[in-house]
Amino acid sequence: MEGIYPIIWDGTSLKLLDQRLLPEVERYVECQTLEDVKECIKKMVVRGAPALGVTAAFGLILAAQKFIGDFTQLEEEQEAFSFPEFQAKLESAGNTLKETRPTAVNLSWGVERILNKSRSLKEALPSLIIKELEQEANAIFDEDISVNKKIGEWGAKLIGDNYTILTHCNAGALATAGYGTALGVIRRAFYQGKKIMVYVDETRPFLQGSRLTAWELQKEGIPLSLIVDGAAGYHIHKGDVNCIIVGADRIAANGDVANKIGTYTLAVLAKENNVPFYVAAPLSTIDMSVNSGKEIVVEERDPEEITNLRGLPLSPPGINAKNPAFDITPANLVTALITECGILNFPNEEKMKQLVQKRR
Ligand code: MRU
Repeated sequence: MEGIYPIIWDGTSLKLLDQRLLPEVERYVECQTLEDVKECIKKMVVRGAPALGVTAAFGLILAAQKFIGDFTQLEEEQEAFSFPEFQAKLESAGNTLKETRPTAVNLSWGVERILNKSRSLKEALPSLIIKELEQEANAIFDEDISVNKKIGEWGAKLIGDNYTILTHCNAGALATAGYGTALGVIRRAFYQGKKIMVYVDETRPFLQGSRLTAWELQKEGIPLSLIVDGAAGYHIHKGDVNCIIVGADRIAANGDVANKIGTYTLAVLAKENNVPFYVAAPLSTIDMSVNSGKEIVVEERDPEEITNLRGLPLSPPGINAKNPAFDITPANLVTALITECGILNFPNEEKMKQLVQKRR
């Protein structure tokens, strides 16, 4: 696979490939503080559920380094250092990170992994705490890539030769630590030698499809056709599409899926036209604390994203606009959930309970 590195950690700073500028410009934003990381998440320099989890983990390392910094310089570090004080500061930093974007559960998941690790280190010296926390963040990063590859391996079994696949948003290397979930499946099928073609929904208003997914696929020579979101139904109804694959931001205990706005429309179109609708996501995207999609908070973003395009007005001034960033696809419209642990056909509450048992 072509090297795509959305998140680079060098031990003291976090470099994020600025996804607002792609495909024209490949530039990194360097984060040196927790505040920098939060700004980058809010402004979508980095986006995509798994990428948000990894970024949040490193954001907490930057915070921990700041809180602990002075104590590792002292000879008798253990005496001067108060673990409860440190942990309280870290928990509060974690809470502010979780608030940056509410829908993708991986963000809270990444934060909780670091906080849990820290809770387990209450007897340790500050220098060891920092080392162990950084190791945990690096493990989250590495695991994300290996999990994506497993998802790709499982999902590719569902892709036949000469398939045309439709995808929405960007669930690729850019949305993860690397490789991707939905695009991981597509990548794997392509590298298995299957002749495939991908319809890429442009994904208004942030254009993750036309700017990011098209860029990733083109880099690797995977055949694609960019379409406007409204053309999906036309192609599906014509019989041009063998299956639809999307990622997920949060999956409820009953299998309902929150994903980029427009996903639900695709799922209904798929059902109406007997086309399989697949959701590719790691187990970390499943949130058993929400019973159904109704309980998932859908982020509302600035209407300016719809009414303007990089400063160019697209509608009359002062117009009313609504910009929900995600929608909910009920489980009964999902043909299968593709995870690192296998393919779960027709997800429901009972099957989801069994699936999460496989979490480490
Ligand atoms: O608003 P975004 O770009 O963060 O939304 C991303 C999506 O909806 C993706 O489909 C989802 O996070 C899965 S990414 C592997």
